[in-house]
Amino acid sequence: MTDKTKRTRSEQDRVLIFDTTLRDGEQSPGATMTHEEKLEIAGLLDEMGVDVIEAGFPIASEGDFAAVSAIAAQSKNSVICGLARASTTDIDRCWEAVKHAPLPRIHTFIGTSPLHRDITALTQDEMIDKIHATVAHARNLCDNVQWSPMDATRTEHDYLCRVVETAIKAGATTINIPDTVGYTAPRESAKLIRMLLERVPGADQIIFATHCHNDLGMATANSLAAVEAGARQIECTINGLGERAGNTALEEVVMAMRVRNDIMPYRTAIDTTKIMHLSRRVSQVSGFAVQFNKAVVGKNAFLHESGIHQDGVLKNVQTFEIMRPEDIGLYAKNIALGKHSGRAALRSKLEELGYEMGDNQLKDVFVRFKALADRKKEVYDDDLIALIVDNASAAVDDHLQLRKLKVVCGTEGPQEAELTLAIDGTETFIDATGDGPVDAVFNAIKMLYPHDAKLDLYQVQAVTEGTDAQATVSVRLSLDGQIFTGQSADTDTVVASAKAYLNALNRLHAGQGRTSNSALMQSAS
Ligand code: KIV
Ligand code: ZN
Repeated sequence: MTDKTKRTRSEQDRVLIFDTTLRDGEQSPGATMTHEEKLEIAGLLDEMGVDVIEAGFPIASEGDFAAVSAIAAQSKNSVICGLARASTTDIDRCWEAVKHAPLPRIHTFIGTSPLHRDITALTQDEMIDKIHATVAHARNLCDNVQWSPMDATRTEHDYLCRVVETAIKAGATTINIPDTVGYTAPRESAKLIRMLLERVPGADQIIFATHCHNDLGMATANSLAAVEAGARQIECTINGLGERAGNTALEEVVMAMRVRNDIMPYRTAIDTTKIMHLSRRVSQVSGFAVQFNKAVVGKNAFLHESGIHQDGVLKNVQTFEIMRPEDIGLYAKNIALGKHSGRAALRSKLEELGYEMGDNQLKDVFVRFKALADRKKEVYDDDLIALIVDNASAAVDDHLQLRKLKVVCGTEGPQEAELTLAIDGTETFIDATGDGPVDAVFNAIKMLYPHDAKLDLYQVQAVTEGTDAQATVSVRLSLDGQIFTGQSADTDTVVASAKAYLNALNRLHAGQGRTSNSALMQSAS
């Protein structure tokens, strides 16, 4: 092994963090990130100390290939990994993308459980041959190869030992044991790793990884149990993003090992103070809001509502808090800015929140901040973050721009929207009705800009408390197997809805959609 996965015995307590937000996380239905957003997230993960970044599935599309190549080229410390099915074409394509990294890795996989073997129509022996050939092929290209038996937790133990042994003999340096459908439980997860370490020849020469999905809400517990049994790489995503119920959340495993180091004496290289910023950025760019009561990063994770708790925290914060907000980069001084705050105050607040901005970007955000401060008494941290999302969305493309919107709503329907849009700079006006103000606005937009995309998701979230709070709106459209997302924030929910819809349409116009990777994963069995 040539990268930092090579460890001495004295480093046995070191657990590698493998982040797959940009691959497995991006497989969440509808989670689309633009090329630039993927590069930004990869840069933040690298800075945070993630050991391995799974940057994408290069064969999936030209966009995925370009993103993995660019992430590889910009990487500084992290190993950059790409996913490939058990085919030489996939593996070659993956290598073409990751080879630009100072520390590249190829991750190849095949479904090994009876259910998956049935789909491939391979006999056990034929699958063994295929594993040997594809892992050896990958190893000829790259000296850092990870192999995964997909659906490992539902694969017969004898056969699992055979396939793992085959992959090790063919040159795999990391063996990942995926609980693809979130089926296992902590004790079983640990037992499986122990069984492989005991029975597979050569198991002590490689690193075992654990990759858990959260279908039964046990992903984090299953990952930590696997580590206790000897796994030394945890695969996870920021905010637990991922297929169905998602994956093990990076912030949960890292903070669990840190807070309970007395019973889980393992180390990671993660700078935990970067967690909150990454969590917010991933939520913004993926369009997946973080649930309020999510462990570590949820909005309520450090809020105390009951009198007894508030009283306790005021006397000694440790009475009801097991970690300090600042350990994850959450600063208690949620001091509001107002309309008299200047550019320097805004810059310093943004830096505190983890946003470094160039002068031009700051200028744009400042103009928006002033407009917001005129409408809202106090501008809180979350308002500023929403403002940045809005600024980034507006920068996507200005093909369609909202110029004016007036809505008539109330108990007597139908509701009505008078809308002026600029399409490529030319203003057009229409008056439309609908079943509610948002429906009226969306109808008006569609009349001015006819399209065949289907509205798959419309979601509103209040950014802060109070009736003058901003609303963040996410819109997801699909057309011909491509997904386009849009986001916006405004103190007027209907205006935010119109802008989010236009943002998604601008992405459609710019061809910034994404094909779902799920179809490819199904053909990997
Ligand atoms: O869940 C899974 O099995 C995967 C594999 C590709 C590792 O994501
Ligand atoms: Zn997975």
